[in-house]
Amino acid sequence: MLQVSGATKIYNGQKIFSNLDLSVATGQFKILVGPSGCGKSTLFDGLTGVMGLDQGKISWNHTSLEHLGRHAAYMQQKDLLLPWFSLMENSLLPAKTGKQDMDRMKIMANKLFVRLGLNGYESHYPNEVSGGMRQRCALVRTLMFNRDLILLDEPLSALDAITRRSLQSLLLLLQTEFKKTILMITHDIEEALLLADEVCLLSNQPMVISESFILDQPKPRHFSDPDLLKIKAYMLAQLGGHNEIG
Ligand SMILES: Nc1ncnc2c1ncn2[C@@H]1O[C@H](COP(=O)(O)OP(=O)(O)OP(=O)(O)O)[C@@H](O)[C@H]1O
Ligand SMILES: [Mg+2]
Repeated sequence: MLQVSGATKIYNGQKIFSNLDLSVATGQFKILVGPSGCGKSTLFDGLTGVMGLDQGKISWNHTSLEHLGRHAAYMQQKDLLLPWFSLMENSLLPAKTGKQDMDRMKIMANKLFVRLGLNGYESHYPNEVSGGMRQRCALVRTLMFNRDLILLDEPLSALDAITRRSLQSLLLLLQTEFKKTILMITHDIEEALLLADEVCLLSNQPMVISESFILDQPKPRHFSDPDLLKIKAYMLAQLGGHNEIG
């Protein structure tokens, strides 16, 4: 279980968030939705130690940590692929740094390349493929860390609608089949409602969790479910009536 209490981050004298509490139960799929610039990525950077928090307590499975570090795999909003490595080499970086069995990791990477529609592009460089393909490669690399906790910052934002649906199914598999605990940011309310066990609406500034919605509808879900449509309409109204919320 991930528990965060009193998280505070100040940039240039401005409180991005202050005294923020958040918890994610083991195996839970929790999604954060909020206005662009409210501090979602800053929170993830703080939790993972990319840019530490100014204050706050973090614990994972009841062990206090300065930051999640090696306990979590973090897919940042920017894809951060290394331009001088091919897509496959980028995907195998976690295996190299983690001193893992390289043959086994290559098999896993190949399977993920097929599953994410990247097969045939293994030796392409990031600047030779589309933004959506780079994003899929970044997702492969995140999964290659093989951690129990995964933080995903808008992982599907650069994808077309069809690829997005197919990768949403993959994200569900991460929870159901691979038993991962997932904390994700999205600007797509429908995506949040299809995937999450709980959706937190954030407001700025400082960023606070203004409302949480527990969703216990079985998955996979469809938008023919009138309950989901009602929640969607409510969330859109809370967020200002449109879906371009970053
Ligand atoms: N390194 C930094 N130095 C100073 N200010 C920063 C830094 N990083 C982020 N900020 C500020 O913190 C606030 C939150 O930014 P953040 O990127 O966390 O927002 P976000 O909710 O992820 O937005 P988006 O949905 O557009 O990705 C913004 O006002 C931003 O300008
Ligand atoms: Mg962001």
